[in-house]
Formats: sequence, C-alpha cells, structure tokens
Amino acid sequence: TKSKIPSEKGIDKTVTLLKEGYLFINKRMDKYKTDIFKVRLLGQQVICIRGEEAVKVFYDTEKFQRKGAAPMRVQQSLFGKNAIQSLDGEKHLHRKLLFMSLLTPAHQQKLAALTTEYLADVMKQWENADQVVLFDEMKHLLCKVACQWAGVPLTETEVTERGDDFIAMVYAFGTIGPEHWKGRMARNRAERWIRDLMENVRNGKVETEQGTALHEMAFYKKMDGTQLDTQMAAIELINVLRPIVAISTFITFAALAMHQYVEEKEKLRYADNHYIEMFIHEVRRYYPFGPFLGARVRNNFTWSGHSFQKGTLVLLDIYGTNHDNRLWENPNQFNPGRFENWKGGLFDFIPQGGGDPAKGHRCPGEGVTVELMKEVLRALSTKMEYDVPNQDLQYNLSKMPTLPKSGFIMNNIKKLV
Ligand code: HEM
Repeated sequence: TKSKIPSEKGIDKTVTLLKEGYLFINKRMDKYKTDIFKVRLLGQQVICIRGEEAVKVFYDTEKFQRKGAAPMRVQQSLFGKNAIQSLDGEKHLHRKLLFMSLLTPAHQQKLAALTTEYLADVMKQWENADQVVLFDEMKHLLCKVACQWAGVPLTETEVTERGDDFIAMVYAFGTIGPEHWKGRMARNRAERWIRDLMENVRNGKVETEQGTALHEMAFYKKMDGTQLDTQMAAIELINVLRPIVAISTFITFAALAMHQYVEEKEKLRYADNHYIEMFIHEVRRYYPFGPFLGARVRNNFTWSGHSFQKGTLVLLDIYGTNHDNRLWENPNQFNPGRFENWKGGLFDFIPQGGGDPAKGHRCPGEGVTVELMKEVLRALSTKMEYDVPNQDLQYNLSKMPTLPKSGFIMNNIKKLV
C-alpha cells in the first residue's frame, strides 16, 4: 500500500532553509515523526529523506542520478560546472577511477608527510607570534601541501590568496549576496589560474611528473579517448585541491573538541592509532560540515510505501543522519568511544557521503582527510603546548557551512622537541 508523503504546507521555504541551516530538515522530520517529507524549495517540490535506509536508496544508481541535481549557483561556486559531481553511469565511474588513483594510501602518506614537514616549520613561527588563528594557519598550510603534492607551482606570495579562494568556494554554499559572490569570484580566479597552467603543461612549457594530480588530470582520457578541455581539467584538479584545504574546518572543530573536552586532549596525548581514528570519526560525525546532498529520481520507484516520480529532486540529510538516535546513542554527546566497536558500515556514518566510493559519488578523499587530521592532531597534542585565550568559539548551526566564530585562537605557543 502506498502512503502519502507528509508535506510542509505553504510557499517556497528556501529562505527558511537558509535561515535554519543544518537543523531545517531534521526539525521537520521530528515534527512529522517520519524519515521523509515534501517541501517547496528552489521553486520546486523537493522530497527530504534521512536515516540508514534512506542512505541505501539514495546511493542506488538505478533510482537516482546527479545530472540536473546541483543548482547552477552551487556549480558556479563549490563544484565547478559539469564536473564529476554531476556525472552519471559509466562516464562517472571512469572519471571516478582517476580520482581514486590519486587518493590511494600511498598518496595519503605523501600528503601526511608534507603536512608534518610544513607543520614543523610553521610551529617555529607560531612560537614568536602573539597569537595565531588555527583555521587561517591551516588553510594556508594545507594550500601549500595540496599544491606541492599535486605538482602545482605556487610561490610564497600567492599562498594566502589561493588558500583563501579555495575556502571561499566552500563557504559560498549556503549563502546569498556578497559571501556567495566572493565564492564565485574565487572560483573564477582559481579556474583561470589552473586553466593557464593546464595549457602550459599541454604545450610543454611546464614539465610535470607522472603520477602527480596535475599530470594525470592534464593527460586523462575520457571514455571516448579524447582529453578533457583545459577548463574541465582545471575544474577537476581544483576538485582535489579545494577539499584538501577544506580539511581546515574539521581541524578547527577537532581543536575545539580538545579544548572543550579536556579529558580527550589528555587521552590523545597517549593515544594509539586506533583511538586517534575514533576521535577523528567523532569529530566528523558530531560537528556540522556537509549539511545534505541532492539527487534526482532517475526512474519511478516506491520506497518505504511512498512513490518517487522521475525527475523529483531529493535531499539526503547528512547532518540529521549523523545525529540519528537509532544509529547513534545520545547523538548530541561528543563521545569518540562510540566508534570503539563500530563495524564500518557504508550507510550509517556519512559525513563525506555513503556507499562505495568507487561505485558511486561517495567522497574519495576520506582517507586523505583522516590521515592529514592525524598529523595535525599529533602536533597539537604531543609536539606543542599552547593556551586558548578568551574568544567566541560558538558556531552557528544556521550558517552552512559553519565554523567556530574566532577560528580558534591560540597563544603562548611552545614547540616541544
Ligand atoms: C565528494 C565531503 C574532503 C574529494 C564529497 C561529498 C561529500 C564530501 C559530502 C559528496 C558525496 C556524494 O555526492 O554522494 C567532504 C568533506 C571533506 C572532504 C566534509 C573534508 C574536508 C575531500 C578531500 C578530497 C575530496 C580531501 C580529495 C583530495 C571529493 C571529490 C568528490 C567528493 C572529488 C566528488 C566525488 C563524486 O562525485 O564521485 N565529499 N569531502 N573530498 N569529495 Fe569530498
């Protein structure tokens, strides 16, 4: 038997969504006591879903497609136009292999080693500074790490602007007006920069090393045997540079967790690899980053007694699923211990999407995210001492993405040998 999907009455709720942010979907789910409701958003009827069963259906590529799902404004700021995020089927799998091949454990270790190296340098500067803002330091450090690893030339004078641009693309997501336009301009600048570089790689003016992201993106061949145009090659290279820099957000939340839960900081100091991973997973589960994902119904189907019509836009609630009390006991408590016996399910813990990354759209960068966070957490917990002066550490759940307001200020930094 088919049942009617609970429906939020009234006019388009886009403005309300942007006002309520991470809690918009979850709040209504709780109100209707369901995992599914309909609402008018972005000028159309949209179905919102949450929970483990919802994740399973959302990642069924027979039922859903990404083509036509991301609004143009998101493509023009966060993703890049017509990039991997909006591909489907064989074309997507072929392109995804390229990304997977650039983010293997060997690459993760290279990125981790670079992070440690740059951290050792920057800690010396931190000792001499009155104070540092961790988020700003991380975005510039990770910008250097990402470019060095990818084979992208970057002069010392460019670091700040390029790093800020990558972050501006990410933080344009749930904004309108100036902050959104800042993100679009940042993307235009970055695409021009990397497109010129791609042209110089292809005409031989810039030499590249095989196996680097720059080289592999520049010479990648699509299924039809042709190369990406330089614009698309640039967009896809930015699709690995930008998110590495964005790990700054999770690092800032991790520092906040160490500050708020003093016993965790103490545990991290003596933690083995397993505990650090548990802590990192809990940071990625508990704190808000990716709010939800969008896909369009590819073929009519029925799920949980509700019919889904071809073409309908469906939003999967990431934040709500990561705080679902059927999956997570006391979801609003920060507790790395919950991951002690976690089985590593593909559909319950979804800060970077769900399913198998090689077969669907799940983030291919989770290994990189975890390994880079490890290096920074080891540095913060065992290689230095610092104070956390009074500051506004609150983060606003109505902003998507969000961040502790102060960016996490540290002072009296002392590097330990
Ligand atoms: C996709 C989150 C880091 C590369 C995604 C998706 C999410 C996500 C939610 C969408 C999954 C979907 O559409 O089903 C994050 C978060 C990160 C992060 C919160 C923390 C900073 C990274 C890193 C890389 C990366 C470090 C690469 C170096 C990508 C790519 C995609 C993607 C290329 C598109 C995959 C596809 O469409 O098939 N990420 N990610 N991400 N991520 Fe990440």
